[in-house]
Amino acid sequence: MSKCDIGLIGLAVMGENLVMNMESKGFRVAVFNRTVEKVTNFVNGRAAGKNIVGCMSLEELVDNLEKPRRIMLMVKAGKPVDDFIDKLIPLLEEGDIIIDGGNSHFPDTIRRCEYVESKGMRFIGTGVSGGEEGALNGPSMMPGGTPSAWEYVKPIFQAICAKVEDGSPCCDWVGENGAGHFVKMVHNGIEYGDMQLICEAYQLMRDNLGMSAEEMHEVFKAWKKTELDSYLIDITTDILAYKDEDGEPIVNHILDTAGQKGTGKWTAIAALDEGVPLTLIGEAVFSRCLSAMKSERVNASKALGGSYQKFNGTAEEKAAFIESIRKALLASKIISYAQGYTLMRTAAKTYNWNLNYGGIALMWRGGCIIRSVFLGKIKEAYDRDPSLSNLLLDPYFKDKIASLVPEWRTVVASAVLAGVPTPAFASALSYFDGYRSEFLPANLLQAQRDYFGAHTYERLDHERGEFFHTDWTGHGGNTSAGVYNA
Ligand code: 6PG
Repeated sequence: MSKCDIGLIGLAVMGENLVMNMESKGFRVAVFNRTVEKVTNFVNGRAAGKNIVGCMSLEELVDNLEKPRRIMLMVKAGKPVDDFIDKLIPLLEEGDIIIDGGNSHFPDTIRRCEYVESKGMRFIGTGVSGGEEGALNGPSMMPGGTPSAWEYVKPIFQAICAKVEDGSPCCDWVGENGAGHFVKMVHNGIEYGDMQLICEAYQLMRDNLGMSAEEMHEVFKAWKKTELDSYLIDITTDILAYKDEDGEPIVNHILDTAGQKGTGKWTAIAALDEGVPLTLIGEAVFSRCLSAMKSERVNASKALGGSYQKFNGTAEEKAAFIESIRKALLASKIISYAQGYTLMRTAAKTYNWNLNYGGIALMWRGGCIIRSVFLGKIKEAYDRDPSLSNLLLDPYFKDKIASLVPEWRTVVASAVLAGVPTPAFASALSYFDGYRSEFLPANLLQAQRDYFGAHTYERLDHERGEFFHTDWTGHGGNTSAGVYNA
């Protein structure tokens, strides 16, 4: 019997589907699961008659693999990954490759990569996006880790991943150690932002315009034909049309408290660590937190008055407002991606990653949850200028956002007046206004810091790097605090 091309550990839905996908592309796959009955069920069920070898132990799995061995972990992020790494290392040989395909936190991947390499083996931490359907039919994959491992993994990953219209694979090498999981984390943060933006548009239509799910379904269906065309707009269109057993739109029966597994929070924390204003994703995470405070909100809506002002324009004005909402969504989405890309650029410097920003847009262009036509435009922007410092400075996005700004402002202002929360639309607009400001009020802030703590300030009429302190009250000393920035 010939050896297997790859081994996969963890037969939950993502793992199983990836195995089926690999097998369908001509690879022979060995599988193992901690609860071994799952292996038996799988090989006798979905995998019956396929080029898939069920293994009852890690030893058996390792023995079944071609060298250098490639073993992919599809287990819960966290301790289970470390446990399997520790169990595998004594069974492996120099140059063998362990791949973690879960949603691991990138600092863990950096640590694991170093650890596995110190034992003479190679490590890949890869983002896999697209849910169960993507895993089966072509996910977006974002691998990073030991560079020399890529040539052995590339043929498999690029065969099973999603492809864009011209056949380019939505998978390429991202960078060393934790780069792949970092990029996947930012993908998830952007996913949070995109979902929040769609939800804000939905709330404006539902609560300000008083529209039914059916009416909103028609709006989203029309938006699919615009630059907003994306998987998330697609599924939103479907969701709004879906009827429950009682014939009512099911969305009206779903409790308004959002869950989260933490990747959006990690993205926001990474942005705070890097000093990058990732305001939209931050708001998206906090909006989920606010939504989760359901009983407190129910009480507060009674105590503080929880009604929204209704739109009272004509049918024509309503249609115009819906179009303005679409533009506000698009403008805010541009800001979200500009912020996400800035985070990647900044982190790349911190961690010494040589990221290919156009390549990342291509990896996200198909297969993943944030896949969209829009990402093609981002790819083009980075093809024009690979060292673009901010997406907003690219000629296409600069013109695009300029054409959207007036109606974006109208939507944010109308939402504020109507009492409908639009934290992502509004924070995106504030970021845009802040980013394009030559002068911000931080001169006053520096004066305040110097006043109460002698933290010093720089002056417009002096070179950067020269620091001044004023004795504001006449009874402070001349001693200033140390100059350092966190
Ligand atoms: C993907 C998704 C996925 C994510 C879930 C749940 O790319 O396929 O991003 O990785 O974990 O969608 O995320 P939350 O529970 O945090 O919403």
